Amino acid sequence: IDAFFLGGPLAGKHVLVTSGPTHEPIDPVRYIANRSSGAQGTALAAALRDLGARVTFVTGPADVPPPAGVDVRRVQTARDMLQAVQAALPADVAVMAAAVADWHVSNASGSKMKKDGSGAAPALAFAENPDILAWVSRAANRPSLVVGFAAETDNVLAHATAKRARKECDWIVANDVSPATGIMGGTENAITLITAEGAEDWPRLTKDETARRLALRIAEALA
Ligand code: CTP
Ligand code: CA
Repeated sequence: IDAFFLGGPLAGKHVLVTSGPTHEPIDPVRYIANRSSGAQGTALAAALRDLGARVTFVTGPADVPPPAGVDVRRVQTARDMLQAVQAALPADVAVMAAAVADWHVSNASGSKMKKDGSGAAPALAFAENPDILAWVSRAANRPSLVVGFAAETDNVLAHATAKRARKECDWIVANDVSPATGIMGGTENAITLITAEGAEDWPRLTKDETARRLALRIAEALA
C-alpha cells in the first residue's frame, strides 16, 4: 500500500471551494441576497476532503453548515469573498460554486434607513461586483484546474458554454434552475459538465452523489 491509497487520490492537493450566496448590505439591518442554499458547494467540499484534499472553504451565509475537516472562511459580500479567495491561493484546484451577487448597493447607508413620512421610497444605486471566477482564471498563480458553475433558467448549454469562454475557466458545471426542476433549494441536481472536449449530460442524482462524481472526476483530471 503506498501513500496514494493511504491518503486518497487528492492527498497533498490544496482545493479552494467557494459556496453559498453572498449578502450585499442596503443598511446595517437589510441586505440583498439570492436563493442559494450552499448545499452543492458544501457537498463538493466534503467529497473533495474525503478524497484526501486539503480544502479551503470560502462560504457566504449558507443555509447548511460547513462540512467538518475543512478550513472555513466565512464572508458576507462578494467583495469580501474575492479577498478571501485571493488570500487562499495558491491552490491546485478552484471550485467556484458560490452564487455571487452580481451587484452591490453602491449607496448603502451606514445607519438604518427610515421612512420619512412622505410615502417616497429610497432609490438604491447598484454597482457591479468583481467577477471572482474570472479573476482566479487569470491569476498569475492560477490553479491548474478552475471549475465554474452556471445556474441558468433557459438556453442552459449556450449560456454555459459562453460563460466558460468568457471566464476562461477549464470546466463549467451547468444546471437548469427553473423553479419546475426543484434543484435550487432541493436535494437533487442534474448537471451538464462542459469541458474543452464538449458537454456531458449527467443523470439526475442527489447533490451528494453529484459531488462525489465531480470530486472523482477532478482527481482523475489531476492524475
Ligand atoms: N461568479 C463569480 N463572481 C461573480 C459572479 C459569478 O465568481 N461576480 C462565478 C460563480 O461562482 C460561478 C460562475 O461565475 O462559478 C457563473 O456565475 P453566473 O452568475 O452564472 O455568471 P455571471 O457571469 O454572473 O452571469 P449572469 O449574468 O448569467 O448571472
Ligand atoms: Ca450572476
